[in-house]
Amino acid sequence: MKLLITGGLGFIGSEIARQSIEKGFETIVVDKVTYAGDLERLRGYEKKYSFYKEDITNREGISKILLEVKPDVVVHTAAETHVDRSIKDPAIFIETNVGGTQVVLDAAKEVGVSKFINFSTDEVYGALGEDGQFTENTPLNPHSPYSVSKAAADMLGRAYFHTFNLPVITVRPSNNYGPWQYPEKLVPVMIFKAHMGENLPVYGKGQNVREWLHVKDCAGAVFAVIEKGQPGEVYNIGSGEEKRNIDTVKAILSLMNKPESLIEFVKDRPGHDFRYSLSVEKIKRELGWEPEITFEIGMKNTVEWYLDNLDWMKTKLSDLKSYWEKAYYK
Ligand SMILES: NC(=O)c1ccc[n+]([C@@H]2O[C@H](COP(=O)([O-])OP(=O)(O)OC[C@H]3O[C@@H](n4cnc5c(N)ncnc54)[C@H](O)[C@@H]3O)[C@@H](O)[C@H]2O)c1
Repeated sequence: MKLLITGGLGFIGSEIARQSIEKGFETIVVDKVTYAGDLERLRGYEKKYSFYKEDITNREGISKILLEVKPDVVVHTAAETHVDRSIKDPAIFIETNVGGTQVVLDAAKEVGVSKFINFSTDEVYGALGEDGQFTENTPLNPHSPYSVSKAAADMLGRAYFHTFNLPVITVRPSNNYGPWQYPEKLVPVMIFKAHMGENLPVYGKGQNVREWLHVKDCAGAVFAVIEKGQPGEVYNIGSGEEKRNIDTVKAILSLMNKPESLIEFVKDRPGHDFRYSLSVEKIKRELGWEPEITFEIGMKNTVEWYLDNLDWMKTKLSDLKSYWEKAYYK
């Protein structure tokens, strides 16, 4: 099988690429290599995949690659992904996530693929209170420029199934964590800052709840969807591991033997969604997929991985310092 992954140098895309290579699939990575993309993530897998440096908004370039490669399956993960950046500068989120998705869908339609896995997110559903869960039938109600751009791309993919018969399958994963995540997202920021003995910025009072899914489980679910998922369908991918942010941060500090006094509450993110929680009954029932990595074990391994890979984290430091200075709403 020939699997083409857009955004395959990103956090989740690179895990999908590694698993694809390990399964013996012909693996093709297309990535613009933005600040969030990094060839290092596929260290050790050189020569085992083909790489095209391309921007998904470049219609001609993407069409040429797909016509040359003729992939069986496209897994479309390329996106601008950080909510905070979307609040500061929404335009590129619409250009990449909506415009870019349309370009990739058109190219897949032109060449013909057997499956197109369109990466959406739990954030497209909006926010929950203390109770309830999102099912695949919950109406979309996104709140941030990021989640609006993802919802538009999600619906565009479904429109290409209904209108053009393109075999699009939509996946909506919850918050991923694990090795190789760019240190602007909660888990690696906290590990890196705790390691440096700096204060850990926690939005509001840290009461917001997220459902933590290990990236290896997320990629595993994608392969179950490739194998058994039905075109036109949507699958939530979650872990059931719901935590308040403050508890996630405390768990990280405890694994690192660092004091909770490092926690610094900062001004909340504007429009911060309170809670996401996914029902994963459908993917369990129809595809037989279940997460395998518990929060306790996954977070322990993740902390260890970052501490073993500080050299990689440090390559991001100059970018990050200026970002961090602007990022938190003091
Ligand atoms: N990380 C999560 O917790 C999470 C949860 C649910 C859904 N998602 C979705 O999963 C997908 C992957 O997320 P991630 O966390 O791995 O993201 P990431 O930010 O780590 O990686 C994104 C990748 O896309 C590439 N990219 C960005 N713009 C591009 C463009 N114009 N052309 C080509 N490549 C481009 C980047 O270079 C990078 O390699 C995204 O669609 C995201 O919305 C992520």
